[in-house]
Amino acid sequence: MSDNHLRLGVNIDHVATVRNARGGAYPDPLRAAKLAEEAGADGITAHLREDRRHISDADIDGLMEVLSVPLNFEMAATDEMQKIALRHKPHAVCIVPEKREERTTEGGLEVAREENKLAHFIAPLRDVGCRVSIFIAADQRQIEAAHRIGAEVIELHTGAYCDAFSEGREDDAAWELEALRQMSTFAHSLGLEVHAGHGLTYDTVMPIAAFPEVRELNIGHFLIGESIFLGLDPAIREMRRLMDVARA
Ligand code: PXP
Repeated sequence: MSDNHLRLGVNIDHVATVRNARGGAYPDPLRAAKLAEEAGADGITAHLREDRRHISDADIDGLMEVLSVPLNFEMAATDEMQKIALRHKPHAVCIVPEKREERTTEGGLEVAREENKLAHFIAPLRDVGCRVSIFIAADQRQIEAAHRIGAEVIELHTGAYCDAFSEGREDDAAWELEALRQMSTFAHSLGLEVHAGHGLTYDTVMPIAAFPEVRELNIGHFLIGESIFLGLDPAIREMRRLMDVARA
């Protein structure tokens, strides 16, 4: 893979959302994950929430068993989730906020205020070989704190940019995009690997994919929604194509 390759992590949470709407086994998130691999996903992302509203513990067991590409395990910074991650040792662990008080105003994890706690929380995960990523707003203070606690990766929250775009607030979208651009450069200058995600669609992915410092995008909801119309394989391949065009 070339150095310029932008990885695509496909988030399969919302296959589980649909399954759980009825209970039972269909649609199967593991089948979606294998299909995503075949369609060119470089990784699979799944968020085991404290309330288990979509992905289940059994889904994580299954993903660890069947995947040929790396699993990016998203979780809140809780003791329960830490135990699960230490048991599975996924390739990557992305720490995300689940409760209001864990969030910054922009919606990423509040790292600056919780620096000591988070530094202690991620140390054992790094010790067992997980790449620890912090889901964070495009905010210099939070990025500096993520660097200080020993994270190797930050994932920039693209939700505010995508919301502004989809609501037709062009100036806000341009402003959010510029903040993401500047902060991806800043994080890279600290030696952090930069990922991005949340709310990305065919209409919003290209400007982010064009940032040279961004190494990975994690995309779920739009792709699972689009697969209703196109099928999962073509939906993912189209996202991959747009990312490649933007990158070139
Ligand atoms: N990255 C992170 C850290 C997330 O929490 C999510 C949503 O679970 C995503 C990316 C994917 O966002 P979306 O489903 O809106 O594409």
